Amino acid sequence: MKIEIADSYNELSLKAKNLVVQEIEKNKRLLLCTATGSSPTGMYQLLCTQFQENPELFEQLRIIKLDEWGGVAMDQPGTCEHYLQQNLLQPLQIPEPRYTGFNSNPENPGLECERIQDKLRTEGPIDLCILGIGLNGHLAFNEPADYLQPFCHVAELSEMTLQHAMASKMNFKPTYGFTLGMADILHSKMILILIAGKQKREIVQKLMSKQVSSSVPASFLWLHPNVYCLIEKDAFDETA
Ligand code: GLP
Repeated sequence: MKIEIADSYNELSLKAKNLVVQEIEKNKRLLLCTATGSSPTGMYQLLCTQFQENPELFEQLRIIKLDEWGGVAMDQPGTCEHYLQQNLLQPLQIPEPRYTGFNSNPENPGLECERIQDKLRTEGPIDLCILGIGLNGHLAFNEPADYLQPFCHVAELSEMTLQHAMASKMNFKPTYGFTLGMADILHSKMILILIAGKQKREIVQKLMSKQVSSSVPASFLWLHPNVYCLIEKDAFDETA
């Protein structure tokens, strides 16, 4: 894992944007897997500015949504879909054929997972996977547990996860989550994990202990040969 500390959130976002642009320049048909939440928002904004200057760069880019709240309407503010539509898909003019994402409220959640897994089988593997980390160490909605799941699945969400700002602003609360599984994520050719904010200090410390455990799903990133971990200074306690 290549670890880099950024002085500020702006610096973290800029470094992340530069890396994503560099990868798209190498492969215009890049399959980009996108997390939501506060950590990647600044980077996505910079990508949208880049689009204004150079729209051709994004003409073939493919996007796959990392995870989604389940049992809530797709267009409700707070869903990952709503976030991605506003922050990335519409500004970058990504049309439907170049986008794959869980439906947040399907009739049969199990079948929805199979649909996304099939899509990943034909479109994948993911070239570049953007991740954040949950306060409890989750990756996407792969929650701490006795064992982790390799493929797309319906996830039971922890209390802590349900308190995430995205879920807490919803009128109707999610009852479960959809997520790519650990193998889906770890089969990505490259992974970029963004960690920002003081509240992440404790989990960063656990991640840095290099103890690979299903109680901290993000620790499995230590097993991947091409992970770039960008940490905002505030989230990194040097005295620890
Ligand atoms: C959420 C999302 C994850 C995200 C993580 C961190 O629950 N499901 O995909 O990466 O938690 O979010 P944030 O960046 O807002 O701290």
